[in-house]
Amino acid sequence: MKKSGIYIHIPFCAVKCMYCDFYSIADQNSQIPVFIKTLIREINMYEVDSKKLIFDTIFIGGGTPSLLEPKYIEEILSTLNKKFNLTNVKEFTIEANPGEAPKERLSDFYNLGINRLSIGVQSLQPSLLKFLTRIHSAEQVFETFSNARSVGFKNINCDLIYSIPGQTWEMWEEDLRKIISLKPNHISAYTLTVENGTELFDLVRKNVIKMPNDDKTGDWFSKTHSILEENGYPAYEVSNFALPKMQCRHNLHYWRIEPYLAFGPSAHGFNDNKRWNNVRSLSNYIQKVESGIQPISKTETLSNLDFINEAIGFGLRMKEGFDINIIPSEILNSFEEKYSKIQKEYPNLISKKESRIKLTTKGMLMSDQIIPELIFSK
Ligand SMILES: C[S@@+](CC[C@H](N)C(=O)[O-])C[C@H]1O[C@@H](n2cnc3c(N)ncnc32)[C@H](O)[C@@H]1O
Ligand code: SF4
Repeated sequence: MKKSGIYIHIPFCAVKCMYCDFYSIADQNSQIPVFIKTLIREINMYEVDSKKLIFDTIFIGGGTPSLLEPKYIEEILSTLNKKFNLTNVKEFTIEANPGEAPKERLSDFYNLGINRLSIGVQSLQPSLLKFLTRIHSAEQVFETFSNARSVGFKNINCDLIYSIPGQTWEMWEEDLRKIISLKPNHISAYTLTVENGTELFDLVRKNVIKMPNDDKTGDWFSKTHSILEENGYPAYEVSNFALPKMQCRHNLHYWRIEPYLAFGPSAHGFNDNKRWNNVRSLSNYIQKVESGIQPISKTETLSNLDFINEAIGFGLRMKEGFDINIIPSEILNSFEEKYSKIQKEYPNLISKKESRIKLTTKGMLMSDQIIPELIFSK
C-alpha cells in the first residue's frame, strides 16, 4: 500500500493574471455546472486498483476553487467518497483568492471536511498587486485570513511572490513580516517566473518590463530563507516553509514521487510508473469525457533511470534530500564521480550525511545549475 494524494483542478477565475501559466479561464462561470457534471463522470470513469493506494491527501486547486458554491464541492466529495476509501485522508486543501471566498462559504467548506486553506496573497503592496493584475487588496487578504481562522481552519497557507519588477527589498520584507505576524501554518514564497504564453512573457520580450537580475534575486532568496527560519518557518523545499509538522503532505507526495491521481482539465497525475496530463482545454475535456474517453493528452512511462533522475531532481529541491541507496550499484561509481566534481565546483553547497545527499540553503539557490550535472543522461 502506498500513500497517495488526489488532485482536482478547477479552471475558473474572475480574471486571468498577467503572469499565470496555469490552465485557468476568466468569464466562463456559466460553464461551472457542466464542468462539475463532467468532473464527476471523469472520476467515476477512472479505473485504479485502489487496494494498492492509501489516500491521505486531497487538494482542490486551480484556477480559483473558492469561486465554487459549496454544493459543488459536496458533489465532488461524495463522488470521491463512493469511488475511493477516504477514511485515511489527513489533509484536505482548497485554494482561495482573497476577496473571492466569503466567510459563509469558508465555513461551509470547513464543515464539509476541508481542513487546510491555501490563500493566494502574492503581495500586500497596492502597486505590486496592480502590476500583477490581482483584483484584491491587502485588506481583503487580512479579512480572508481572519475569516478562515474564525470559521475553524487550523491549517492555513499563504502563497507569496517576490522578485517582482518595481519591488524593493523594504517592500518585500514588510510583506513577509506582516504575513509572519498573522502566524499562518505554512508559507510558500515563489520568485516571479516569466512563463511562455503569459502577458508578462510578451512584456519582457518586448523590453517593456525588465525583470530583476539573478544576483538580486539570489540575495533576496537567501535573506528570505533567513527571515523565515528565524521566525520559526524553516524551508523544507526551495520555496516552501512551515511551522514544525505543518509541511504540506500533498506537495510531499509530488516531491517524494509517491502516487497521486488527478482530475480536471490540465491536471497531472502519477501512478504505477506512469505520469499523465489531462487536456488543457475545457471544451476538449468535456467532449472527451462525454464520449466516454479519458481526457488524457499525454502519458509517459518512467524507466528505472527516469525514476532515479526524478528522485535526485525532486529530492535536492527538498531539505531532506534523497537517499543514495536509490542508485543501483552498477551506476553508483558514475554518480560518485559526478558528486565529487560538484563538490569541487561548488564547495559547501552539497553534503552527504549517512546515506542522504542534500543541498544547503545556498546550494538550493543553485539547484537549477547543480541538478542537471548530477542526473544521468538517457
Ligand atoms: C496557480 S495559483 C492558483 C491559486 C489562486 N488562483 C491564486 O491566484 O492564488 C497557485 C500559486 O502559483 C503561484 N504562481 C502562479 N504563477 C506564478 C509565476 N509565474 N511565478 C511565481 N509564482 C506563480 C502563485 O503564488 C499562486 O498562489
Ligand atoms: S494566478 Fe490564480 S487567480 Fe490568477 S489567473 Fe492564475 S489561477 Fe487564476
